[in-house]
Amino acid sequence: MTIASDPLVTSQRISTAVEAWLDAHQQAQLMIGNRWVPAQSGKTFESINPATENVLAHVAEADRADVDDAVKAAREAFDSGPWPRMSSHDRARVMRRFGELLEEHADQLAELETLDNGMTIGASKAFFKVGMESYHFFAGQATVVMGHTMPSAEGMFNYTRREPIGVVGGIIPWNAPIVSALWKIAPAVACGNTIILKPAEQASLTCLYLGELAIEAGFPAGVINVLTGFGPGAGSALSEHLDVDKISFTGSTEVGKLILQASTGNLKRVTLELGGKSPNVVFADAAVEEAVPYALAAFTTLTGQACGAGSRLFVQRELKDEFVEKLAQQVAGLKIGDPLDPATTLGPLASREQFDRVSGYLAAGKEGGAIAKIGGEALAGGGYFVQPTIFDGVDNSMRIAREEIFGPVLSVIPFSDEDDAVFQGNDTTYGLGASVWTRDVSRAHTIAHRLKAGMVWVNTYLELDPTMPLGGFKIGRAHV
Ligand code: NAI
Ligand code: MG
Repeated sequence: MTIASDPLVTSQRISTAVEAWLDAHQQAQLMIGNRWVPAQSGKTFESINPATENVLAHVAEADRADVDDAVKAAREAFDSGPWPRMSSHDRARVMRRFGELLEEHADQLAELETLDNGMTIGASKAFFKVGMESYHFFAGQATVVMGHTMPSAEGMFNYTRREPIGVVGGIIPWNAPIVSALWKIAPAVACGNTIILKPAEQASLTCLYLGELAIEAGFPAGVINVLTGFGPGAGSALSEHLDVDKISFTGSTEVGKLILQASTGNLKRVTLELGGKSPNVVFADAAVEEAVPYALAAFTTLTGQACGAGSRLFVQRELKDEFVEKLAQQVAGLKIGDPLDPATTLGPLASREQFDRVSGYLAAGKEGGAIAKIGGEALAGGGYFVQPTIFDGVDNSMRIAREEIFGPVLSVIPFSDEDDAVFQGNDTTYGLGASVWTRDVSRAHTIAHRLKAGMVWVNTYLELDPTMPLGGFKIGRAHV
């Protein structure tokens, strides 16, 4: 089966609103205490459009000194500012205003996100919606944060209060910046905390846009701060900082470990959302016509750069060839190209680094003996495009089946029965997501229970709901 080989993007139709925003932000600054300032060092770095490799803007490179300033602003806002002291109803009012502004700017935010990280405009709008559902959910929670009253002897009164933690550092990746930023900001500020958001260096622009809207919404100075910069500079300074009470991080396992180490200075709290190599398990009794498009979305959404990507597809042996054939047909129908074009269904990878990494895995798959049923090549000609790839003939011990690729690359692995599916599905150091496809209700529950993952879907994939915890566990131990 063949697939597009020349997605060259020569020009993009950028709206006048986003064009104007970009013109005004060619030297984008840091947001500290509701003011926009350059990095103290004066350093900047480029934000690249991954579809064209053109420079979109120059962004301030925060370092330790800027982190100190931002922490001071956030600390003051928490220790003596109005935010944690005002009534929860007043906090909720500011949050609602921010929510309205975000919705008003939805089109521009989605477009800017697509320009900066390459996700298709369709995905950008869909993820914006997911982010807003969570945002509104947490804004609604602001007024219902309650403690408990415990039974006690007469003359005694025991109760607990839910208190904000203090200054939170939110460090996010580049694959879906708006939703990641809202997932960090919303729960933190709803409870009266203050936050310093550190976007990923590969795609920071929409976080700056969010910062502007936060000021307009009326958050007091220092409640929301945005520091653009690199991981080893701004990111590590934030995670080591003794006046930061909590780090909430989403990104690679490697950096998650560094953050945990950096937290020991003041024993700050840490929440880590790391990667996955999630098993999507299809039994022979599954509704195949429904399972195929979900299997496609599981490894191509965000061009495969999703923590919950279903990158290992386990299909029961008797169904495997038929399933792979149908899936390959759908892969062949993907439209690779300009992510701003609404017809495009697969955009570029987000950065040169990611392009090189995924290209390396395409080579490793072939060298390891896997067969590219479709795709298998990086695409030359500008922009960080690779072919969506189904590797058949994969053994779960191969590198491509063990390591998070974070690209549109699927490993198909056959299994014989329930025990084999569970054994192979759990034979990974990751434990973020999993899915099971079957028409047998009892089997669905049994397998969902036995798959060791924080989120397990049945007859669907990557459905998210803000009322559902985004759980995950394991790392480093490959068996049940
Ligand atoms: P990364 O973990 O280095 O970057 C994520 C964030 O952490 C960025 O904001 C970065 O500036 C920051 N960071 C980097 N080093 C830091 C440090 N020492 N201290 C504090 N913050 C630091 O991820 P990267 O290098 O962009 O991607 C590498 C791989 O990680 C990907 O190929 C993918 O496998 C995985 N990844 C997983 C994500 C997920 O959502 N689960 C998101 C991004 C990457
Ligand atoms: Mg890194």
